[in-house]
Amino acid sequence: MQVAMIGAGYVGLVSGACFADFGHTVTCVDRDAERIARLCKGDMPIFEPGLESLVTANMRERRLRFTADLAGPVTDADAVFIAVGTPSRRGDGHADLSYVYGATREIAAALAGFTVVVTKSTVPVGTGDEVERIIREARPDADAAVVSNPEFLREGAAIQDFKHPDRIVIGTEDERARKVMAELYRPLYLNQAPLLYTTRRTAELIKYAANAFLATKISFINEIADLCEKVGGDVQQVARGIGLDNRIGGKFLHAGPGYGGSCFPKDTAALIKTAQDAEAPLRIVETVAAVNETRKRGMARKVASALGGSLRGKTIAVLGLTFKPNTDDMREAPSIPLITALQDMGAVVRAYDPVGMGQARGVLTGVEFCDSPYACAERAEALVIVTEWEQFRALDFDRLKGAMKLPVLVDLRNVYRPGEVSGFSYHSIGRPQGQ
Ligand SMILES: NC(=O)c1ccc[n+]([C@@H]2O[C@H](COP(=O)([O-])OP(=O)(O)OC[C@H]3O[C@@H](n4cnc5c(N)ncnc54)[C@H](O)[C@@H]3O)[C@@H](O)[C@H]2O)c1
Repeated sequence: MQVAMIGAGYVGLVSGACFADFGHTVTCVDRDAERIARLCKGDMPIFEPGLESLVTANMRERRLRFTADLAGPVTDADAVFIAVGTPSRRGDGHADLSYVYGATREIAAALAGFTVVVTKSTVPVGTGDEVERIIREARPDADAAVVSNPEFLREGAAIQDFKHPDRIVIGTEDERARKVMAELYRPLYLNQAPLLYTTRRTAELIKYAANAFLATKISFINEIADLCEKVGGDVQQVARGIGLDNRIGGKFLHAGPGYGGSCFPKDTAALIKTAQDAEAPLRIVETVAAVNETRKRGMARKVASALGGSLRGKTIAVLGLTFKPNTDDMREAPSIPLITALQDMGAVVRAYDPVGMGQARGVLTGVEFCDSPYACAERAEALVIVTEWEQFRALDFDRLKGAMKLPVLVDLRNVYRPGEVSGFSYHSIGRPQGQ
């Protein structure tokens, strides 16, 4: 199959490279010419484990190429995927669909022969109808079917997730489009990945419902963690105790500083708006989003209380800036409101992240970026683990203690166990404090 992937970001690039790896011929299109120039040289614009070798191998086999020109690849394509961003709209928090509709208009102009236009971007229910309307209006002669095929990959494990998905959701009632989609995903179907065919609107809703539910699990366990701290309990054990129940499941029950990232905050916000507009408000999701928002900044108070209440003039070393490990993505990272709050409380912040510092420099001000966890800890009064990168799981605490002014560790990801970090005053989430 000939595939045009519009948008070569985290989703478009990974999906495009994986489709090429399945044997399809894929052209990834991005209007960011610099990004395309880098990709043509085999230089990845994002950090994602395994991506560079997958991309370069498929470029070598001539199954994968990159261009800023949308028309040619779309004209030749059996399937055109829209994988552009859908950030929160300024002002009301609904999904900003200007990139999706902009891409649709460009696609419409270039369509030739039967083409399946697939929204892979996360888009509110009804967006597929509007994409179809735009195409029909611009090109009444075009033979196109619009399909919803939301993406569930996680950054940091994106290739594995794309190639071994829990399910593939395909929203269409068009028989010809169904055949094209089945052919595209054939290698996964052979691997027995469940293909779920639904209507387009249902497919659009599945993506938002999934993210809202996962966000709910996180906020739920975070509130249970707060309760554990007040009444004396261990949230890790509570999570395990409930997670072993198959009806609940153990995943997404890790208490922490609140969820962030490029999806959960904006997708919950957009779903809340959709539901309000439809006069079927989602009170649970509204509360989840509110709880999460206050939590991120609230983590600064936890750091302050570990230091006796005041942060004025104190130096705080922050380990981990990206919203989760194995990505360089800083979008909505909990580290941002946390660091801002620390600075507002008068602290001097030093920070280290294994791959995220390039992106972090663009969003954080007044932070001293360091070359290693140990350089970061120099003269610090507290060390705060914000992102659970693998390398923070085996820190040399003697060395850290030697570098720091005070041996205080605030572990916002419960990487360590209370009592395990000897010589430090240890503070974590939802467990006995100050040991
Ligand atoms: N990042 C994730 O983990 C993830 C997971 C599942 C779903 N999604 C969804 O996938 C979509 C894309 O997310 P992302 O993280 O890959 O975004 P991204 O910002 O990394 O990439 C989007 C790319 O689209 C390009 N673009 C925008 N308009 C264009 C146009 N008209 N023509 C060509 N290129 C254009 C941009 O230059 C950018 O490189 C979003 O809707 C997101 O919600 C993301």
